[in-house]
Amino acid sequence: MTHAKTPPPEAASLAVFAQALTRRFGNFIAVDHVDLSVKPHEIFGFLGANGAGKTTTIRMLCGLLAPTGGEAWVDGLSISTQADAVKHRIGYMSQKFSLYTDLTLSENLEFYGGVYSLTHNEIADRSAVIMEQLGLTPFRSRLPKELPLGYRQRLALGCSVLHKPRILFLDEPTGGVDPVARRTFWDLIYRLADEGSTVFVTTHYMDEAEYCGRVSIMDKGQIVALGSPNELKREQNALTMQDVFLKVVKP
Ligand SMILES: Nc1ncnc2c1ncn2[C@@H]1O[C@H](COP(=O)(O)OP(=O)(O)OP(=O)(O)O)[C@@H](O)[C@H]1O
Ligand SMILES: [Mg+2]
Repeated sequence: MTHAKTPPPEAASLAVFAQALTRRFGNFIAVDHVDLSVKPHEIFGFLGANGAGKTTTIRMLCGLLAPTGGEAWVDGLSISTQADAVKHRIGYMSQKFSLYTDLTLSENLEFYGGVYSLTHNEIADRSAVIMEQLGLTPFRSRLPKELPLGYRQRLALGCSVLHKPRILFLDEPTGGVDPVARRTFWDLIYRLADEGSTVFVTTHYMDEAEYCGRVSIMDKGQIVALGSPNELKREQNALTMQDVFLKVVKP
């Protein structure tokens, strides 16, 4: 049985607060003493090379994977001792998201609404709004496999925001999506932030890093840079976020 640690005062006012968050797999340290503070309503970009530890960190913050060291609070709740409560406050679009292939788009939304214990009426109202915002209404009776990847990503995003989560974790939501669809996706992310959500998002596209209020860059389990895109460019004497990334992430 894990005993609750007394939360530090910052934990109550921050959307995400991690202190020395660590995850080992055997002898390998995937996430190594990560400290993070994300304020409510921020769009926070969580960048890093392949295998840097981003997905592992997100899974811990979503209460899906126990840390082996350190602690984090999400919306003031401990990810170690209140993981179930954390899961209800957040929305999570996983890197390898799964939609039900034998359910139509609207049935997928209905299913996720049920998972989040929404009432029948809430599901109907929210699904209609979300499908409209995501441009999915004309396809509501289609199966996911009949649609291009960008539309399946939109549906996966829709499923993760149905219950109006206070904090939204998006793990490479635009992976494999064309530039026009990526722009649409970011319009949506801004809208969600305007409506009051905190957005914690990973991406390998450095143009998308520029859309974030602040970003962190992770390398081999550690945060190696943190700040607004402009601050990081100044600090690293770089013109673009691509240059910043190449300077701080060593091969
Ligand atoms: N269950 C596991 N068991 C053993 N090693 C794991 C496990 N999960 C992740 N790892 C390892 O931890 C490291 C970090 O993986 P993670 O998926 O968090 O990286 P990432 O930053 O999300 O990478 P990408 O950009 O490719 O998605 C990798 O070396 C990975 O192989
Ligand atoms: Mg990942």
